[in-house]
Amino acid sequence: LSLWTEVRRDFPAVSRHVYLNAAAASPTPRPVREAVTAFYRQLEEDGDGHWDEWLARREQVRAVVARFIHAEPDEITFTPNTSAGINLIVDLLEKDGDVLAADLEFPTVTLPWIHRGVRVHLLPARDGIVSPAAFAEASAPGAATIAVSHVQFSNGCRQDLDAFGALKGERRLVACGSQALGAFPLDVRGSGIDAFATGGHKWLCAGYGAGFAYLSRALLRRAPREMGWLSVEDPYAFDNRRYTLVPGARRSELGCPPFGPIFGLGAAIEYLSGLGTEAIAARVLELNAYLTARVEDAGLRVLSPSGAHRSGQTLVAIADPPRAVAFLQSRGVLVTEKPQGLRISTHFYNTEEDVDKGVAALRDYARG
Ligand SMILES: Cc1ncc(COP(=O)(O)O)c(C=O)c1O
Repeated sequence: LSLWTEVRRDFPAVSRHVYLNAAAASPTPRPVREAVTAFYRQLEEDGDGHWDEWLARREQVRAVVARFIHAEPDEITFTPNTSAGINLIVDLLEKDGDVLAADLEFPTVTLPWIHRGVRVHLLPARDGIVSPAAFAEASAPGAATIAVSHVQFSNGCRQDLDAFGALKGERRLVACGSQALGAFPLDVRGSGIDAFATGGHKWLCAGYGAGFAYLSRALLRRAPREMGWLSVEDPYAFDNRRYTLVPGARRSELGCPPFGPIFGLGAAIEYLSGLGTEAIAARVLELNAYLTARVEDAGLRVLSPSGAHRSGQTLVAIADPPRAVAFLQSRGVLVTEKPQGLRISTHFYNTEEDVDKGVAALRDYARG
């Protein structure tokens, strides 16, 4: 058995469904449930007796996360989802000035700034692509911050974050990894990213409830907007008058941690790291290329940008997307509707056979 066939044993969902929906959420591999269950068993049997052990495991997970994106553990803070992470970033950067973003963006990358009264310049996409060149200082509106998704949620357009890092100049680069991390490697330092946020439930295969933000050490010199009793160096002093914030990003974990989701996230990232991020990315792109070819063979139109902008998501033009999703679902094929058609995702747990089944259903739908 090839590695990619073997991993399917860890994902019971893929033998029950033709699961082409990682961009919505991924099923979790068995080690995630095992980690979460082991935690709840301890809680059930011993109450709070394992508190110190859980705190130590949380720090192990922080180190695993940091290694995964080439950051330092003190630059990582756990969040419930991407949106909470983006808000932490906005807390630190909102006073700097305007933001540059793409008009294709997922709203959680743009609205939290607008909500604080920050002006967001939305650069128009051309043929589904917002090129990094549009963000160049010489041509773009003046701004203090660039905010960009590594992969766009709508059409799967993948961005070269190194290119953004190279052109950002004095501006801060904020990246959203919700549709990318777990499918594509990330090197926050190498790419010149100042802050990053992601959830865990999509390409990371970690389930709901834990994501994280990366806040570079330079940004951590700024005071956080929120704090709680566990944000301080000596929480057990219970001092109501004096406190020193922990210097790391952990200061933004305000109270008792959601250990279950954090341990699930740790298990998922350990699992993905074991497979290798480069190998996963290559497999995701291989399946995506296969899907694109089959969709075109079926006489259907792919709307996602091609070449280096390709990711694990393919937007396929189709009439009446809600009805198309329901039709595919009746054939056991799970995808997402978009205004222009269907968003079909391929992750490493998919196979060419999944793609064939999905495209066969799509062809039958299109033939009416
Ligand atoms: C680019 C991007 N950011 C964020 C999210 C989701 O944010 P959250 O993790 O807060 O639910 C999505 C979901 O589709 C997304 O595509």
